[in-house]
Amino acid sequence: MSALSIKGLTKSFGPAEVICGVDLDVVENEVHAVIGPNGAGKSTFFNLLSGAFAPTSGEIYLHGDKINGLSPDKIQQRGLSRSFQVSNVFGNLSVFENLRCACFKQAHAGYVFWRPAARVREANRRAEEVLEMIGLQALRDVPAGALPYASQRALEIGMTIACDAKVVLLDEPTAGMSNTETTQAINLIRQVAEGRTLMIVEHDMGVVFELADRISVLVYGKIIATGTPEEIRNDPRVKEAYLGEEAA
Ligand SMILES: Nc1ncnc2c1ncn2[C@@H]1O[C@H](COP(=O)(O)OP(=O)(O)O)[C@@H](O)[C@H]1O
Ligand SMILES: [Mg+2]
Repeated sequence: MSALSIKGLTKSFGPAEVICGVDLDVVENEVHAVIGPNGAGKSTFFNLLSGAFAPTSGEIYLHGDKINGLSPDKIQQRGLSRSFQVSNVFGNLSVFENLRCACFKQAHAGYVFWRPAARVREANRRAEEVLEMIGLQALRDVPAGALPYASQRALEIGMTIACDAKVVLLDEPTAGMSNTETTQAINLIRQVAEGRTLMIVEHDMGVVFELADRISVLVYGKIIATGTPEEIRNDPRVKEAYLGEEAA
């Protein structure tokens, strides 16, 4: 069964159709990259999948269950998590507290004082686990707002997976990073991908070709090709519409 099955998905903002009838099946446990020029609709596509935007038409199935029309919280509870943007991180709270919040949120308990002790222990345990995975142990008590940029992005990824999501969407996780930071981010993303289905929007073709099992190319709201990195690299339509332009 597909992790995600997307059928005839469209999204219009007023008269402008930004996503124009997208059909896509994302295979369980694959890393599926979405590439395409600026303004192609990649972030909008992710916002539709995560429930931030309601589709104008079409359907989205998560492990066979229809999720379009559900709230972002409900979709997340069903196991699809989109990378948190910096604004979702509480700047005044420490790295560790942010991770605990993300864990509690999934338990659908909210961040309140009285709760079963077992749930607190479980959230703490999970937060520790994620903290180690994202390599921020040394920064655990630092307020998230004071983190260096790359660490902040790592924290965002940590918060995305804190809730045990089975399908994870990352929108440009290496944007603005140095080469060294990008290499670290790739390693982290590899770990995130283990045992999960990962969709990733990424501009850096090096990162895409290194991580992706399959790639979809989105141009003006339409997927013009889906295939392995090799297939995409050699697809004349893709070269013309996108990669050629990158190379030039
Ligand atoms: N909330 C919105 N309201 C109106 N137009 C939007 C909104 N979000 C995105 N768009 C438009 O949709 C198009 C695609 O944007 P986006 O999905 O951000 O592209 P990408 O992520 O591929 O660069 C752009 O023309 C953008 O201006
Ligand atoms: Mg975008």
